[in-house]
Amino acid sequence: MPNRKAKPAKKPPSGKGEFRYQSGFGNEFASAAVEGVLPQGQNSPQKVAHGLYAEQLSGTAFTAPRVVNRRTWLYRMRPSVAHKPFQSIEQGRLRSAPFDEVPTPPNQLRWMPIPIPPSSQRTDFIDGLITMAGNGNTHTHAGVAIHIYVANRSMTDRFFYNADGEMLIVPQQGRLLLRTEMGILEAAPGEIAVIQRGIRFRVELLDKEARGYICENYGALLRLPDLGPIGANGLANPRDFLAPVASFEDREGDFHIVTKFQGRLWAAAIDHSPLNVVAWHGNYVPYKYDLANFNCINTVSFDHPDPSIYTVLTSPSEIPGTGNVDFVVFPPRWMVAEHTFRPPWFHRNFMNEFMGLIRGEYDAKAEGFVPGGASLHNCMAGHGPDAETFEKASNAELKPVYQGDTMAFMFETRFVCQPTKFALETSELDHQYFECWQGLGKKFK
Ligand SMILES: [Fe+2]
Repeated sequence: MPNRKAKPAKKPPSGKGEFRYQSGFGNEFASAAVEGVLPQGQNSPQKVAHGLYAEQLSGTAFTAPRVVNRRTWLYRMRPSVAHKPFQSIEQGRLRSAPFDEVPTPPNQLRWMPIPIPPSSQRTDFIDGLITMAGNGNTHTHAGVAIHIYVANRSMTDRFFYNADGEMLIVPQQGRLLLRTEMGILEAAPGEIAVIQRGIRFRVELLDKEARGYICENYGALLRLPDLGPIGANGLANPRDFLAPVASFEDREGDFHIVTKFQGRLWAAAIDHSPLNVVAWHGNYVPYKYDLANFNCINTVSFDHPDPSIYTVLTSPSEIPGTGNVDFVVFPPRWMVAEHTFRPPWFHRNFMNEFMGLIRGEYDAKAEGFVPGGASLHNCMAGHGPDAETFEKASNAELKPVYQGDTMAFMFETRFVCQPTKFALETSELDHQYFECWQGLGKKFK
C-alpha cells in the first residue's frame, strides 16, 4: 500500500482549545463575554445592561431575502461613530478597482513568492498589503482584488476595516491572531479566515513573520455552494466553520482606525479600542475553516471532474452558475482513476484562474510553482501540465496514489484578473514561465 501521511490533528469544533469557537455556517449565533449583558427578547432596550450601547451592523440590505440577509447586533462600550474624521493616507502597494494601471497581457503569468521584508523594515498587516491583480468595480459591488500580505509586526495601536469588500485570508506562512469586534480567530497555514465588509479588526503575528494571500470580494458574500446530486453532505461541511465568541478590549490611548473605502486608505484618530463589543448576536460574523476538513468528492472510475468539484466557498453573481469568485482548494487526496491522464488536463477557460500554493507540490507542475508563489491564467489562455509532468503522467503505472503533500488553491473569477503595475514589474515575475510548455512536441504519427 502507498504511504498515506497522517492528517494534521483537527481541533475540536468548539470549546477545548486555547480559543473557543462556535460551530456552523451562517447561523444565528449569540455570545456574551459578561453574563447578563445580552438583551433578551429584543435588540434595542431603552437601557442596555452595564451601560453599553446597542448598534446594528448590516452586511446586506435591510430588505435582502431572509436566506441571504446578514446582520449582527453589537453591545459595546462606545458606538462605532466615536472617532475623529478620516484623512487620506499613503496606500503603499495596495490597489483597487478599476485595475487600469497597465494593459493586461493575454499571457500565462507566474510569480515566485513575494519576499517578507527584514525586521528592520517594520511592516504590519496593513503596510504589507500588496495587490497583484483584480477586476470589477467597488462602486457596483462586482469583482475582486487579489492581494499578497507580508508582515513582521503585529498591529497593536491601529485597527482596520474594509468597506469595499469582505476579505478571505489564506495564510501561507506564520500564524495570525485576528482580533475582531466579535472575538478572536486564530488562523494558521492550512486554515482560512473570512472577515466581512465593515468588521473592525487588528492582526497580531503569532510567529516572527507572516505571508499569505487575500481575496477581497467586492461581490455577494461568500457562501457554501449547492451540492446538487452530491446530496446533503460533502465538500466543506457547515459544522466545520468556526465563529468566535465575544471577547473585548477595554483599552484607551492614541490609536488609529484605518479603512479601505472606495479604493483608498483612510485613517482616523480614535482614543479607545473599537474592539469593545462585550456581547453580540446575529449571523454577520467572521469565521475560519480548516482546509483539512474539506471532504473531497472525486472520480473512482475514470476522468477527473472539472475543478469546480473542489469549491469551498462561492460568491454568486447575477448569472446562474457563474461565480463572482469561487474559492477552490486542491487538498491531499487519493488518485485512483483508471485509464486516465490524472493531472489537470490542458484547457482554456471562460473563467479566470489565480492560483496559490500553501504547501507541497501541485500535480500539474513538476517545478517552478512553489509555496507562496502564484500563477494567473486569464480568459482563454491555454494552460495545463508542463512537459515533464505530461511525460511522467502519460507513462505512469495507474495504481492508487495518495497525494499527501499538497495544498493548492484557486480564486476563480468571472471577470479577467488585471495585474497591477507592481505584479508585471516585480523581479518575482517568472519571465521564463512559457518555457515549461515548449517541450510539448508533436507526437502525431
Ligand atoms: Fe485551469
